[in-house]
This record gives sequence, C-alpha cells and structure tokens, in this order.
Amino acid sequence: MNCYDIAVVGATGAVGTAMLEILAERKFPVGNVYALASERSARKRVCFDNTELQVESLARFDFSKAQIGLFSAGSKVSAEYAPQAAAAGCVVIDNTSCFRYEPAVPLVVPEVNPETIGEYRHRGIIANPNCSTIQLVVALKPLYDAVGIERVNVATYQSVSGAGARAIEELAHQTMLLLNGDPIEATARFVKQIAFNALPHIDEFQDNGYTREEMKMVWETQKILGDERLQVNATAVRVPVFYGHSEAVHLETREKLTADEARTLLRRAPGVEVLDERRPGGYPTAATEAAHKDAVFVGRIREDISHPRGLDLWVVADNLRKGGALNSVQLAELLIEQWC
Ligand code: A2P
Repeated sequence: MNCYDIAVVGATGAVGTAMLEILAERKFPVGNVYALASERSARKRVCFDNTELQVESLARFDFSKAQIGLFSAGSKVSAEYAPQAAAAGCVVIDNTSCFRYEPAVPLVVPEVNPETIGEYRHRGIIANPNCSTIQLVVALKPLYDAVGIERVNVATYQSVSGAGARAIEELAHQTMLLLNGDPIEATARFVKQIAFNALPHIDEFQDNGYTREEMKMVWETQKILGDERLQVNATAVRVPVFYGHSEAVHLETREKLTADEARTLLRRAPGVEVLDERRPGGYPTAATEAAHKDAVFVGRIREDISHPRGLDLWVVADNLRKGGALNSVQLAELLIEQWC
C-alpha cells in the first residue's frame, strides 16, 4: 500500500488536534506526519498515534516534503500558504472559508457530492465546508434526492469549540468566574458574555443584516447540492456548549414527504444516525450523543403543521469531527482512492 506524507497546518488548534487523532484512528496510510503551527508553538509537542511529534514552524516548512496538506489555521494563513503548498505539489484540503466560493475549487462532503473532488486538479486545493453546513447537507441529501427541496430555514446552536481552542478555555473561565460571583469582561472572541447565554452572532456582520456564518450556510448549501434555486435562510447562534453543534431545520420539499418516509430515507443514508422516539430523551443532543462521535444524528422528525410540504428536523453533530477534521480526513481518503 502507498503511504502519504501529510502536513497538518494548525496542529496545535482544536481542529488540528482532532485531525491528528482521526488520521491515526482511521489508520490513514501515513508516511511522515508534519505538525505545523506558528513560531509561538515551535517548541511544543503534539500527540499522534501513541507517539509525540515536534511542532514545526509553518513559515519555514518546505511543502515539497508532503503530498497532502490538511489546513486549519484560519483564512489568512490559508490565503498565504495554501497556494504555495499546491505549487510545491502538495494537495491542500482546506478547512477555512478562504477558497470555498471559488468556482475552480471543489467544496466537498463525501456523503453528498464526492463526484466533484476531481476538480481539485485546477488549483491543487479542495475546500472543506463550514461545520454547520456539513451536518446540514448530510441530513438534507437523502430528502433532496427523493423529492427535491425548495427552501430550508435553519437556526443553529453552535458550540464554542467552533471558535477554536481559546474559546473553549474562555467558556470554562467565564463559567468559573460567574459561579464564584465574579464579573466577566468582553473579549475579542466573545463580545458579550457566553457562559449561561446565547449569542446571535458568529463571524462578521454583512450589509444585508445576516452574519457571514449565516451566509456561508446559504452559499455552501447551494454549491454542494449544485442547486442555486435552493432557498436557505439561516440564523447562527453561539451557545455555551463545549462540543457539538445543534440545528433546528425547517424544510419545504418540492413534493410532499411524510415524517415516516423521511425517517426511512434518513435511516438508510450514509453518515446519518436516526434517534427519533416520541418520549423524553428520545432525541440526540450535542453533549450526550454527538460529541466525540462521527455520525450526524437526526431526531424530532415531524410534519410542519404550518405548511403542506413542510418537515422539521433536529440535526446534531460533532463540529470538530464531522464538521471539520473527520470530513477533511475522509476527503484525503477519497483523494488517495483516485490517485491509486
Ligand atoms: P499556534 O498554536 O502556534 O497559535 P484554533 O482554531 O484552535 O484557535 O487553532 C488555530 C491553529 O492555527 C493553531 O494551531 C495555531 O497555532 C495556528 N495558527 C494561527 N496563526 C498561525 C500562523 N500565522 N502561522 C501558523 N499557524 C498559525
């Protein structure tokens, strides 16, 4: 079996750490693994498959040493280094929003549009979608294929790990301060209190009143499903949960689909686990089902009493795994299937 030398860019971060974990867990055929981060981390070590890797400086790394680069160090870092890596022959799987909307860059979820991955040859870059979009499209795909979808209305409940390792620390810190009766201060990461609160603000505000996180769900869902007619309306909310994003999804299908039919389609769909019993606890939640798992969990499947072709779903997944690192590693698996 061929082995591939892999560079993990952002290896000390929340998604980068999960990438290293998942490469080992899934026994990805690795040769050398390079853990890259900023100069700040140059003396650190990170875990990989029961060993430790010395973190190297991204700025000084020679990308001709790696065949695949898993990038998760923010858009600015990707904008600067991903084209350099691709020019050196390292195929980039980019987990930032830097290239997602470029027509020549495929935006891929393996369960949904694997056939588009070959388009990486244009720029040497494959884009990994936003965490909230990934779990949404995995759940939409079987319903979309069966009866078509006209409109999606979604409200998200996104965990702090989606904002990185420092945001995880900040939620823990604010929680401790508040429980001790101490005041908290706004920070760059959360401009208002996040502990015991819900913030309807993720990423930058746009001229149309939506946030960029919300617009990502619009642009990306249309691109991945290859349907610009699909209407998407999103409200993205940060909640004081450490791991796992939840979504209340309201669909308007093109043809009527009953809740039973939707449940059956979702049960057969790749990457989906249905937990839908009409009793207390008969539904998935971020902390109890999704965190540290691979599946996209779907529950609360019901027909919308306010619309003749409306369906409601509750969709939950681990944002660091399926929403980021796992999807990236699955893309690397798809890529090497095509290479071999
Ligand atoms: P570092 O730890 O050295 O700052 P998270 O999303 O959890 O905040 O993680 C971000 C990741 O991106 C970290 O591994 C961080 O490394 C890395 N990173 C941020 N800025 C840079 C940069 N300019 N060059 C290389 N890596 C960077």
